[in-house]
Amino acid sequence: MKVFSDKVELVKKINQLKAENNSIGFVPTMGALHQGHMSLVKQGLSNNSFVVVSIFVNPTQFDNAEDLKKYPRTLERDVDLLKTVSKDKIVVYAPTVDDIYEGNAKSESFNFDGLEFEMEGKFRQGHFDGVGTIVKRLFEIVEPNNAYFGEKDFQQLAIIKKLVSKYNIPVKVVGCKIHRETNGLAMSSRNERLKPEYKKAAPFIFKTLQSAKTKFGTKSANKVTEWVTKQFAKHELLELEYFIIADVDTLKPVKRKSNKKTYRAFIAAYADDIRLIDNIALN
Ligand code: PAJ
Repeated sequence: MKVFSDKVELVKKINQLKAENNSIGFVPTMGALHQGHMSLVKQGLSNNSFVVVSIFVNPTQFDNAEDLKKYPRTLERDVDLLKTVSKDKIVVYAPTVDDIYEGNAKSESFNFDGLEFEMEGKFRQGHFDGVGTIVKRLFEIVEPNNAYFGEKDFQQLAIIKKLVSKYNIPVKVVGCKIHRETNGLAMSSRNERLKPEYKKAAPFIFKTLQSAKTKFGTKSANKVTEWVTKQFAKHELLELEYFIIADVDTLKPVKRKSNKKTYRAFIAAYADDIRLIDNIALN
């Protein structure tokens, strides 16, 4: 499997594949790959002739220097995992910070029509400017036909769709279902860092989302939110940061339920010092 660290070489390779009429799928990641990432790669492989996987821990989307430093970097293992699904249809792009930012690792500032101010945007300063900057840059380099993003980061997916429509970027953004452990915990690179007792406790997050979904059938968003807040207050290991029921189009918290709208419940919680997020479709 070819691993490119230089965008000029990568672009040469992609141009050659395109000249041979191959369609290109793209899966941007920060590495420390797990089966959640692999589900995106597999979807890409089934709908394109080749898939480019980028592995790049993007400094501009971290608001916390310690978090950036601690982010796992496991390129060799990642490449081995990718080889298990295809040896010849995957191209890896693992650039240095300089190859991407050319000495100026700063975010552009974006207007995502308010999507960037909700949920994660409130708790992670500058995060979506960083994500917008890197994904736009990667789209310019790879120029894929299709790009795959997980619903695990539902707000990020919505923001990427907005980015593509605002900048008329000719790529189809495909949202992919959340891949979970058998106990329901959404797969995440951060799960590896959970101490055993917290790993055991963490599936509570998805269980609570499932109960919230059932309750939302008959109760108001406020009542469901109160119930969820209470469950977490009683929990000894997990600390709720937010629980929000939001309209999927605007990501604004629902005020009054309407059966013409589609809603999702979003959660962020701390297990020790590790921040976990998850979400569920409600209707
Ligand atoms: P990262 O956290 O590595 O995730 C890469 C992609 O994998 C994202 O689209 C994410 O939503 C998806 N993903 C992660 N866990 C998943 C799961 N359990 N089920 C389904 N999909 C899952 O998201 C980023 O990197 C970065 O912000 C990036 C877009 C690469 C920009 O730097």
